[in-house]
Amino acid sequence: MPNAYISGTGFYVPPRVVTNDQLREEYGIDTTDEWIRQRTGIEERRFADEGNAPSDLAVHASKMALENAELTNKDIDLIVFATLSPDFAFPGSGVILQRKLGMCDEGHFPPALDVRNQCSGFLYSLATATSMVQSGAMKNVLVIGAEVQSAALDLSSRGRGVAALFGDGAGAVIVSATDEDRGVRHFQLGADGRHADVLSQKVWDTSKRPFIPQNADGVGQVQPEMMWAQMQGKLVFKHAIERMIGVMMQTFSAQGLTLDDVDLFAFHQANLRINQYIQKSIGAPEEKFLHNIQKYGNTTAATIPILLAEAEQTGQLTRGKKVCCVAFGSGFTWGAAIIDW
Ligand code: ACO
Repeated sequence: MPNAYISGTGFYVPPRVVTNDQLREEYGIDTTDEWIRQRTGIEERRFADEGNAPSDLAVHASKMALENAELTNKDIDLIVFATLSPDFAFPGSGVILQRKLGMCDEGHFPPALDVRNQCSGFLYSLATATSMVQSGAMKNVLVIGAEVQSAALDLSSRGRGVAALFGDGAGAVIVSATDEDRGVRHFQLGADGRHADVLSQKVWDTSKRPFIPQNADGVGQVQPEMMWAQMQGKLVFKHAIERMIGVMMQTFSAQGLTLDDVDLFAFHQANLRINQYIQKSIGAPEEKFLHNIQKYGNTTAATIPILLAEAEQTGQLTRGKKVCCVAFGSGFTWGAAIIDW
């Protein structure tokens, strides 16, 4: 059985920086830099300009990952695209990325799969790609986490509890087959659908006829509580801590690892306080934790691949390092992976 390793990473964030002060001054949101920093660690985030969808951000990240892996479009056997903010209700963003990368023009039509697991989407996708590669079915899988969340944030005082948290961005990795003794050693995934409503965005409801209410002229009418994401923040916080520690310990136990064996922790970036609380509770050194929430906010499916790509770029993440990735998100869903780089 071949090993599945990460042969290349890439990332892209849109150039437009929006600081906490700008949320107040430009968008008129009743908030302060102090409130957001103290509770979340976020200082600023990136918002994509109109005209950009997740697939557009993903093109940049994918090209960087391909270049770093020294591969071309034609080497890609499968695209796995994780996002909670897909370009459209359907088709998935994976096929749109395939087209925008120019694969179709080259006569190359790899399968494309969308994964809808929100903040855990990248780890669910990594697990899927790893299994495909280890089974021998695929040699190189392009795994993307990309979000344009700014288009669906209620950027008003009413929406401040959610709008202050999220940003736009894309991260990509290529999962490749190798005979070398390296790669994804173990992954663990979980879900608890009892909490499906705790963090959700029900723009439409297919149990209703029609799925979006219409006015007398047949024009869709989406009420604010359906249009914008709804979240019970304190409950998410509590479950995130419990599940992230639990799933990480399961992977440690499956691999016979202790904290000292891990060189870097690449945790989902939902809230700096969640990650710092976990780091202190388990007694791990602060410097082993990668963070970028301060500058990008929560980029949902993109947080972990962006962290990995940035860490490779800065030289923090090099061949031989053992990385522990952990995520938790809406669903609730969660996951962890141990990777020997
Ligand atoms: N600026 C100023 N005031 C705000 C803001 C804001 N941006 N947002 C909410 N408030 C107000 C609320 O209206 C409320 O006011 P009230 O007491 O007058 O009603 C007050 O602050 C407290 O609100 P809470 O929601 O109770 O604040 P809390 O201390 O729980 O912090 C937070 C909110 C930061 C979201 C926290 O619950 C949290 O981090 N939860 C984790 C959720 C998370 O990270 N979600 C990300 C997506 S899920 C994922 O990726 C895992």
